[in-house]
Amino acid sequence: MSPLLEVTDLMVSYGGLNAVDLVSFSVEEAGIVGLIGPNGAGKTTCIDALSGFIPHATGRVRFAGENIEGWPAHRRAEHGLVRTFQSVEMFDDLTVRENLIVAATTTRWWSVFIDACRPSYRVRNIDVEWALEATGLGGEGERYPTELGHGQRRLAGLARVLASRPRLVLLDEPAAGLDSAESVALASRLRSLPDLGIAVLLVDHDMGLVLDVCEQIHVLDLGRVIASGPPREVRTNPDVVEAYLGSEADE
Ligand SMILES: Nc1ncnc2c1ncn2[C@@H]1O[C@H](COP(=O)(O)OP(=O)(O)O)[C@@H](O)[C@H]1O
Ligand SMILES: [Mg+2]
Repeated sequence: MSPLLEVTDLMVSYGGLNAVDLVSFSVEEAGIVGLIGPNGAGKTTCIDALSGFIPHATGRVRFAGENIEGWPAHRRAEHGLVRTFQSVEMFDDLTVRENLIVAATTTRWWSVFIDACRPSYRVRNIDVEWALEATGLGGEGERYPTELGHGQRRLAGLARVLASRPRLVLLDEPAAGLDSAESVALASRLRSLPDLGIAVLLVDHDMGLVLDVCEQIHVLDLGRVIASGPPREVRTNPDVVEAYLGSEADE
């Protein structure tokens, strides 16, 4: 069976800089794969390219059996390939549940016209409730984002993308700013996603969460994959240690 996501020789250049340089990897159906690397390694650029936010990216990208190169972001999302952003932006004057409903119903700019002509266009309440439960926010739907702690806001950001019932979520540094207890809670939610039929590509510069959650990890440095393997191999790989020590020395 072919993988759910198959990335071959992905390349993104900005002027003379190859931010993503011939990167290849795959994610199996309901798999959980990590992409780590120091700041500036090209992780976010990879997510931007895979989710359709960088039109000039090159390389082959197959998702669920289709070549999706050149597809705009909304078409990828409709096929079940969704992403989160490094910062969680929510509508603070809407409740958590309302934020999820808005996200689940405004995937296309023309949906406003569909709503006007065909009012039967349905809000998928069942998916919104499911996403709240899957992230442990079942009791928080009526609260406002500003009433949530930082960890719960991050989970609400995750719930918002889950509400579209994706097949693969690309998560950009979901643990940023979380304390260790919140990070542990997030890790357990992420580990449960494959059981719900959702594959995960988890991106972080902090190795801890990724090594804890993922089965297979790829390490990026300066746009290139410098190591791939299960957590126990990646953790002790000399090139990986070097890349991380080097980046700490630069800071
Ligand atoms: N829009 C852009 N224009 C120019 N350079 C960019 C742009 N986006 C990212 N870069 C550069 O590409 C490299 C990778 O960035 P990024 O993907 O954000 O790294 P990471 O997410 O791993 O920290 C960095 O050197 C960054 O400065
Ligand atoms: Mg980044």
